Amino acid sequence: MRTVTSVVSMQRLALKWRGEKIRTGFVPTMGFLHEGHLALVRRARRLVGPRGRVVVSIYVNPTQFGPKEDLGRYPRDFKRDLSLCRAEGVDVVFAPGDAEMYPGKAEGRYSTYLIEEQLSRGMEGAARPGHFRGVATVVAKLFNLVLPDVAVFGAKDFQQAAVIRRMVCDLNFPVKIIVAPTVREPDGVAMSSRNKYLVGDLRAQATVLGHSIRAVRAAVAQSAKPVAAARLRALVRETIKPVPAAKLDYVEFFDPITLAPVVAVARGTQMALVVFVGETRLIDNGLL
Ligand code: PAF
Repeated sequence: MRTVTSVVSMQRLALKWRGEKIRTGFVPTMGFLHEGHLALVRRARRLVGPRGRVVVSIYVNPTQFGPKEDLGRYPRDFKRDLSLCRAEGVDVVFAPGDAEMYPGKAEGRYSTYLIEEQLSRGMEGAARPGHFRGVATVVAKLFNLVLPDVAVFGAKDFQQAAVIRRMVCDLNFPVKIIVAPTVREPDGVAMSSRNKYLVGDLRAQATVLGHSIRAVRAAVAQSAKPVAAARLRALVRETIKPVPAAKLDYVEFFDPITLAPVVAVARGTQMALVVFVGETRLIDNGLL
């Protein structure tokens, strides 16, 4: 396994593979890897086969964090990430620094960003202004450096995957986007690097997201007719209320393709849920 930190070296290597008709599978991450990331790596390997190359990027992208968000304390353990990647048969870990990814930014000379204007407006886009501008920009840059044939993203960040799919389609990136199912802990909590923040009894309280999604799914499945989104929102609020450290940020019901809000919720509607557990903002998603 190779670790590459320079953008020029990464792109050179990717061009060489392309010249040799070697397929590349790519998993972009912000590190502090967990089983969810490793499932994406395995999927990438299956997609490109034993002759292909699998690249994992590890880069905590500053442009997708708001000024009051957790950029400074985002969990990192590069040594452990490298050994997990090695054990999974990853070919290259691409771990650039900020000066490589955003040259001149510290001196005010970086000025190109990418904005998706529809799918990124609601939900995370509304709650975290500028977030998807940062995500789209860094993912486009990473695609230009790694030149992947296929890139694998997790369904936990459902809206992110939709924004990236749209960006790839609108801007003709020659890459296939695969969205892999969310990997969960045995108690149903979606795996996330930010789960590290859940110390003491906060970890157990995080199960409220999974409980809420299951409660909504059951209500929709039991009803012969579509259920009003307002009623389901009330059900989510009721489920969260007894959990002392939990505070609802938002719950949305929407079409999984267009992300348009749905007012009469039936099977096949997508649900997104964001809850603060203590100071930690947790996101989860489910198809109803
Ligand atoms: O999902 C993430 O970890 C990040 O948003 C991504 C796609 C690696 C871009 O920084």
